[in-house]
Amino acid sequence: MAEKRRVLLTGGTGYIGSHSAVSFVEAGYDVALLDNFSNSSPRVLDRLEQILGQRLKVYEVDVCDEPRLREALASFSPQAVVHFAGLKAVGESVKEPQRYYENNVAGTLSLLRAMAAEKVQDLVFSSSATVYGDPASVPITEAFPRSATNPYGRSKLMVEDMLMDLCVSDPGWNIALLRYFNPVGAHNSGLIGEDPTGIPNNLMPFVTQVAVGRRAKLSVFGGDYPTHDGTGVRDYIHVTDLAEGHVSALASLDRTPDGAPLVVNLGTGKGYSVLETLRAFEKASGCSVPFEIAPRRPGDVAECYADPSRARDLIGWEAKLGLDRMCEDAWRWQANNPDGYTS
Ligand code: NAD
Ligand code: UD1
Repeated sequence: MAEKRRVLLTGGTGYIGSHSAVSFVEAGYDVALLDNFSNSSPRVLDRLEQILGQRLKVYEVDVCDEPRLREALASFSPQAVVHFAGLKAVGESVKEPQRYYENNVAGTLSLLRAMAAEKVQDLVFSSSATVYGDPASVPITEAFPRSATNPYGRSKLMVEDMLMDLCVSDPGWNIALLRYFNPVGAHNSGLIGEDPTGIPNNLMPFVTQVAVGRRAKLSVFGGDYPTHDGTGVRDYIHVTDLAEGHVSALASLDRTPDGAPLVVNLGTGKGYSVLETLRAFEKASGCSVPFEIAPRRPGDVAECYADPSRARDLIGWEAKLGLDRMCEDAWRWQANNPDGYTS
C-alpha cells in the first residue's frame, strides 16, 4: 500500500486549523499539528481524538522559533505544510503592530527558512479577503487590486508578496494563497468550534454568546449602509467547507501557474446582511437574540462577497453548506459548550 502523505498544520489547534485537521485525516493524510497555544486550548486535542478515533501528534512550538521548527519538520518529515498560525484581531493589530508583524510576517519567514532547510517546498497559506480592502464592487475576483487599512491586513499583504517573490525565485516552491471570506459554524459533532478569548470581534460568535446568555444584546454596527436593509453584507462560509478547500488546494498544488502561487478565494459567492444572518440564526436555534442598531465600526465595508468561480475551476472546490446549516452548527457548538473549551 502506498505510504500516506504527511501534512503539518501550523496553528493546527486553532479554529480553522482544527477543522482542517479533521478534513485532512478524512481525506487519508497523516496529520501533525504545530501550535504555541497562544490562542487555543490543548483540550482541542481530546475533542479531535473523539471525532477521529486517533490522537494526533502535536508539536508545541512557536513558528518564530526556527531551530525548534526545524526539529519538528525533521521529526515528522511532512511533504507539505499548511500555515494557519498567526494573530488575527484587527483592533489589536492597530494597538500592537509590532507583535503582528513579528508573529505573522517574521513567523512566516522563519517557517520558510526551516522548510527550505528541510527540503519541504509545498505550502498552503491562510490569507484573507481583508487583502481586498474596500472593494470597488462585488463580487470580488482574485484580480481585484489589493490594499490594507490596518496592520493585520498589511501582514497578510506582506506575506502574499513574499510568497509570490519566492515562487518566482525558485520554481521548486509550490504555494497556494487562500483568501478566506467569513468563516463561521462548527463541526457537526458539536465537539470543536470557535472559542474566542474575551469579547468576540466577529458577528457569529457574538450572536451565539448572546443566545447562550453570556452577553445581553448584539450591537449591529451600522444601519445606514447602502445595502438592501442598511446593514453590512458578508460572505459567510461554513468552516467545514473552508477546511475542505485546503484539501483541494493541496491536491492541486502541482497545477500552480508557472512561477506564481495558486491564488483563490474561498467563499460561497452569496452575501447576507447582518439582519438576515441574525434571523437565520434565530430560526436555527429557536432563541431570540436582542439587538440594537449602533454606530458603524471604523474600517468596516458595506459589502464583501466572493466570486468563487476560480476555486471551482482551478482546485475543483465549491462550498456546499448554506447559512442555515452554518447557524445550526454554530449553535450546537455553543449550546453544548457555553464557555467554549473551558466548559
Ligand atoms: P485561531 O486564532 O483560532 O488559530 C490560529 C492558531 O495559531 C492558534 O491556535 C494560535 O495559538 C496559533 N498561533 C498564533 N501565533 C503562533 C505562533 N507564533 N506560533 C505557533 N502558533 C501560533 O485563528 P483562525 O480563525 O483559526 O485563523 C487561522 C488563520 O486564518 C490565521 O492566519 C488567520 O489570520 C486566517 N484567517 C482567519 C479568518 C477568520 O475569520 N477566522 C479570516 C481570514 C483569515
Ligand atoms: C472582520 C475583520 C477582517 C477579518 C474578518 C475575518 C474588521 C474591521 N474586519 O471582518 O479584517 O478578515 O473579520 O476574521 O474587524 N458586526 C456587527 N456586530 C458585531 C460584530 C460584527 O454588526 O458585534 C457586523 C460587521 O459590521 C459586519 C458583519 O457583522 O458587517 C461581519 O463582521 P465580522 O464578523 O467582524 O467580519 P468582517 O467585518 O467581515
